Order: sequence, then C-alpha cells, then structure tokens
Amino acid sequence: MTIEELFNSRKENPIWNTSYPLSPEQWAQYRVDQPLLFDQETELSFYVHIPFCRQLCSFCEYTRMVCPDEKLQYKYLRTLDDDVSTFVSAHPNIKLRGFDIGGGTPTLLSEDNFCYLLQIFREALDWVDVSSDFEPSIEGTFDTLSERKLELIAETGIHRLSLGIQSTDKQVLCQHHRCNNDLTEMRRWVNTAMSKGIEKVNLDLMYGLEGQTPETIRADLRTISELYPQQVTLYELRTNMIANKKVPSKLVLYEQYSQYYNGLIEMGYKASFGENAFSLNETDRGLSSYLRSRMLEAVSYKGFGISAQSMSKAGISYNVGKGELNIRRLIDLPTYEGGHTYLLPKEELASKYIAISAYNGSLSLKHLSEIIDKDAKAEYKEIIDFCINTKLLKQIDDNLIVTLKGFEHIGSVFSLFYTRQKQTIF
Ligand SMILES: C[S@@+](CC[C@H](N)C(=O)[O-])C[C@H]1O[C@@H](n2cnc3c(N)ncnc32)[C@H](O)[C@@H]1O
Ligand code: SF4
Repeated sequence: MTIEELFNSRKENPIWNTSYPLSPEQWAQYRVDQPLLFDQETELSFYVHIPFCRQLCSFCEYTRMVCPDEKLQYKYLRTLDDDVSTFVSAHPNIKLRGFDIGGGTPTLLSEDNFCYLLQIFREALDWVDVSSDFEPSIEGTFDTLSERKLELIAETGIHRLSLGIQSTDKQVLCQHHRCNNDLTEMRRWVNTAMSKGIEKVNLDLMYGLEGQTPETIRADLRTISELYPQQVTLYELRTNMIANKKVPSKLVLYEQYSQYYNGLIEMGYKASFGENAFSLNETDRGLSSYLRSRMLEAVSYKGFGISAQSMSKAGISYNVGKGELNIRRLIDLPTYEGGHTYLLPKEELASKYIAISAYNGSLSLKHLSEIIDKDAKAEYKEIIDFCINTKLLKQIDDNLIVTLKGFEHIGSVFSLFYTRQKQTIF
C-alpha cells in the first residue's frame, strides 16, 4: 500500500486514535519478567493514580472503582506511600520535572486520607531535586471539594487544580451516569480555590459524547465564560476500552472541536488549532509540567498506584490492575509495582511518543531523533513529504504541526509514523 492509500483506509476508522499500542497483544513479544529500570534517566516526572470515584461515568476509560470506605482508602495510600518511598530512596539523584496526582478522583478521599496523600507528595520531594519549571497538579471534581482540601492543596505547594466538567447539559450528563454541580456552586469553588492560593484552575470538557449538539456546546462555552478558569482542556472521546459506544463521525468531531476552539479563542484563551489545552497564559501552554515535559519533550515518567503507566528510555511498564475490571481485590496487595514490563525497541518507543504528542497536535523532530538515535527527518522522509505536500502537517522549526485539514483525521495522520510492522494490521 502507498502512504496515501494507507492514510485513506484509516481516515474514518476510530481505532486510529491517540492510543498506542493499538492492542496489547502487539507488545507481547517484548514482555519481560522484571521491573522497568530508570538508570539512564537524569530527569523524570511522577504520576500518582487514585482510582476512586463517586460514580462511574460510562464514557470513562480510566482504571477506577466506586470509592471504598476510609479504611480501604487508607490501605491504598499506605501501599502507595511504600511504593513511592522505595522508588525515591533508590533514585535520589533524579531531577523531577513534574508531579501529577490524578485518577479517578483524588479529591474524593476523606479529609484525613487526602491529608495523607499530600504528605506522600511532600515527602517524595524531600528526596529529589525539582526543575525550575516544576508545576505539580492535582485532579478532582467540584462535588468532592471542601475548603479544607483546597487549603491543604495550596499549603502543600500545589498551585494547579484540574476539575472535570465534561458537559454542562443535564441530559448528556445523565445519559453517561454523571452529575455536576450547578453554575453557582462551580463559581463558588473556583473562587474559593483561588482565594486559598491555587493559582491555576483547569476545567476539562469533552466532545464526541452522545447527546452533544451545537446548543449544548454553546451552553458549555457560556459556563466557561462565567467561570473564566486559567486553563481549559478539551478531550475528544476515546473509545479503545469502552467498546460498543457510539462515536460520531470524524466530521462531527471536527465540527464540535472547531466550535469549542473558536469560542475559547474569542474569550481570550490561547492555543493553536488542533491543541487540546487552552490557556490565558501563553507560556504554560495550558498544561501541568508533568504533561508539558511528557508530551512536548519526551521526558520519562514513573507512575505509582494501581494500573499506572511508566515510561523510561528502556520501555514501558504498567502497574498491577491495567485493563482489569475488578480492581477492588487488588487494594490489599503489598505493592502495586510489578505488573507488566515491556522492553521496547527504539521504533516502538518512538511510536509511543508519537501517540502521546498527537494529543497536542504536534511532533518534535528533535525529540523523535533522540529516541531513535537517527535523524528523524531522514528516517520518516517519505511520510513527512506526503503529509506536508497534502497539507495535513506543516513544519515550523523542528516541529511538525497538524493543520486544519489534518486535524479532521489526526489519528490516521499520526499513525503513519507508527512502526512499519503495524501498518497493515487493521
Ligand atoms: C482522569 S479523568 C479525572 C477527572 C475527574 N475524575 C472528573 O471526572 O472530573 C480526567 C479527564 O479525562 C477525560 N476523560 C474521561 N474519560 C475519557 C474518554 N473516554 N475519552 C477522553 N477523555 C476522557 C475527562 O475530561 C476527565 O475530566
Ligand atoms: S470521568 Fe472522572 S469521575 Fe467519571 S469515572 Fe472517570 S475518573 Fe471517575
């Protein structure tokens, strides 16, 4: 198949999105029975996963469960604490670029347990240096906040809080088993967060959800203009683990993204077309430093907690629980490390990086070259020429950036760069 035929054959197929590998079996040959090593890393970011939620939204693809009682929450944190301590004491020389606490819903923990979670964060920082652009972040939902939790976040030195809205339309939310606070409550929490010293509030929205229309999107934009957070992140519905979900056509997705994009830009947010992070402050790109370093600079990351993913220069690993539906029984384990490790060849690591970068609509040839240890421009010449000649991508300095035309089929554009043996699988 020519590159053009390959591209055309994938244009409408939702499997070609920003998930990589396309199916777990594709990495089976690289699986090893040993932990992933970080001995080539001088810089790293951390991610801590809290897999507890008040309700399980039906669109969600993350590893999560209905929040257990305080005792089990505490048990989870104890194990997390041990895993983090073991790692940092064995890697005292790394410089930390980012630290995201996500989930699930970290702010759902009881106040005592939430305090313990933040203590784990603080103690980890006693062991390692942090970079000058270090900007930790924590995720939550409006309905799980409390004044005390917001104070604790700010006192701990976390100045970015990311809260999910997804949609403001009651019917869309109900259809997906999700409830949100009303606008007055949301406004109160955004103001409280800022008054406590949390400098950046990010709000997540999604598109591609069943029931979303131009009217519901207009209402979402009105809510954003009322709340006016420092950052907004726009997620396209991903469906790799939630089969049988209706996905709109690429054209509808494109139109929905465009409507959000135009509305946000009109309000003063900055982002290039195709990016999913919007910010009032141009310099932070709307991202925590964990995401900035991971997506834009291919910095390695270490994940803690059930199902968390890690990536080093040697490969990828997943903690226990990845892809499992019943994770409750795993909470009692003495460690969440030791799931699956894949020692990957450079081309697979490059494909993973490409999939991660696609989230941001751009690809750094410099970092890609570092990963494959070759000149990426020469290595991917044919594909780059095709994408630039057909105006799917444009090149600015060392970056390939998706164009308006390319964004409609962003999954299939970036997939052209995946390893050759994967090109004809689907
Ligand atoms: C890990 S979730 C945690 C946020 C928090 N629990 C909440 O629901 O607001 C982070 C964000 O991922 C996005 N998300 C969840 N499921 C998704 C899916 N299937 N496809 C794309 N984005 C998704 C949502 O925008 C959500 O706010
Ligand atoms: S979207 Fe958030 S609250 Fe809903 S299930 Fe996923 S992690 Fe939990």
